[in-house]
Amino acid sequence: MKLKGLAAVVTGGASGLGRATAEALSHAGARVAVIDVNERSAREVADSIGGLAVGCDITDSAALQTALATAESTLRGIRVCVNCAGIGPAKRILGRDGPMRLEEFSRVISVNLVAAFDVMRLVSAQMAKLDPLESGERGVLIHTASIAAYEGQVGQTAYSASKGGVASLVLPAARELARHGIRVLAIAPGVFSTPMLHALPPEVQQSLAAATPFPKRVGRPSEYAALAMHMIENEMLNGEVIRLDGGIRLSAS
Ligand SMILES: NC(=O)c1ccc[n+]([C@@H]2O[C@H](COP(=O)([O-])OP(=O)(O)OC[C@H]3O[C@@H](n4cnc5c(N)ncnc54)[C@H](O)[C@@H]3O)[C@@H](O)[C@H]2O)c1
Repeated sequence: MKLKGLAAVVTGGASGLGRATAEALSHAGARVAVIDVNERSAREVADSIGGLAVGCDITDSAALQTALATAESTLRGIRVCVNCAGIGPAKRILGRDGPMRLEEFSRVISVNLVAAFDVMRLVSAQMAKLDPLESGERGVLIHTASIAAYEGQVGQTAYSASKGGVASLVLPAARELARHGIRVLAIAPGVFSTPMLHALPPEVQQSLAAATPFPKRVGRPSEYAALAMHMIENEMLNGEVIRLDGGIRLSAS
């Protein structure tokens, strides 16, 4: 699918990996809707790329439906959705204050997995109504998993479970949506320089960079965006989760 002239939606587009993706899409000639719970930052990003900002908490299904309908009616013909909205709090099952509160686990699953499914459910329904392109494609959905889906660290049960869920839904979703000409993919990033990473203590950030075989640094959001662009353009990619991690394998802690 050619990027120029496309309409795209990026959830979590106000920051980090989503922001870089919104910028790259716009740079390549796409019209972009930035959906984020942080409406002010979403507006800043949208203004800087001539896109549309839609403030929305994606765990509110009714609000998400309205946000996506607004994006579709403004941009017309959304064929790309990159789903970057997510949270990554760390918490032990058994901490000093006792067991993790169940709501804390549920919250991470709700934002990272249930809402990711909801975005896919609603966007694919919109895409299925579009005329197919010459290639037969109607759309591309890109989710964001994590290498924590495979080797989660101590304190990451909720986050790893949510990202494992995202990784696992890619193939069955791609198989099911194939009849509509919609491809489904995910990127499993390693450690990337975004506000989510900057929330960790500096020594933890340094040790994660040092644990990356090559290049010995954390990833740049533009590198995530570059893979998302390639996934959109290369129609043979489907039903796959691609690790983007410099070869790092997370240790237990
Ligand atoms: N940075 C990394 O090292 C890394 C590694 C692996 C996976 N990831 C994943 O990449 C994605 C993007 O992370 P990032 O590092 O860019 O983080 P980030 O915190 O910079 O950006 C996340 C964005 O999602 C938005 N968001 C959060 N909850 C939302 C909700 N309920 N509704 C709407 N928007 C919401 C935030 O406002 C923010 O703008 C996340 O899913 C994260 O789990 C990041």
